[in-house]
Amino acid sequence: MSENRVEINPYDYMNHFMKRAALLVSMGKDGKLNVMALLWKTIGELWMIPVITVAVSPSRYTFELLTKGVKEFTVNIPSDRNEHAIDTCGTLSGRNTDKFKEAGLEVIEGKRTSVPTIKDSDLAYECQIVHEADSGSMASHHLFFGKILTAYASKEIIN
Ligand SMILES: Cc1cc2nc3c(=O)[nH]c(=O)nc-3n(C[C@H](O)[C@H](O)[C@H](O)COP(=O)(O)O)c2cc1C
Repeated sequence: MSENRVEINPYDYMNHFMKRAALLVSMGKDGKLNVMALLWKTIGELWMIPVITVAVSPSRYTFELLTKGVKEFTVNIPSDRNEHAIDTCGTLSGRNTDKFKEAGLEVIEGKRTSVPTIKDSDLAYECQIVHEADSGSMASHHLFFGKILTAYASKEIIN
């Protein structure tokens, strides 16, 4: 998809962003990558910057990477071609599985982050963690606020 996507304003295609569960990519300090399915996410403006917020349970390996690893993540909205990966990435753990291999996902090197995006995504966002918070009484999930450094849309969803 590298040549089949264009950079977009992060606020474009927000309806499409909300339509599907996402694939959240994180990275350890050693460069080890992981990907998990993510339903709880928001996109919008905070503190005068474009922000994606992701809610991740402390039980996830992803949580370990986001807190102890590289302070970046990417959010990828799958296309029909790789939507099947949601099941794999939402049931297996990166602690003991290479989910990219398991789900047949390929990555595209990040332009503004060291964490890559996922090939064949309808939308992809490179984010830098700028803030964290607990969910309080709402859930045990931890909130990670990522400043959107760049965003992409597949030419297939651009009309
Ligand atoms: C459709 C779907 C959506 C999910 N959304 C979330 C979510 O928003 N937050 C979360 O912490 N876990 C969510 N999960 C569960 C994680 O994806 C799952 O526990 C995963 O195996 C964690 O992988 P990890 O241990 O490699 O991080 C979701 C699972 C599915 C199937």
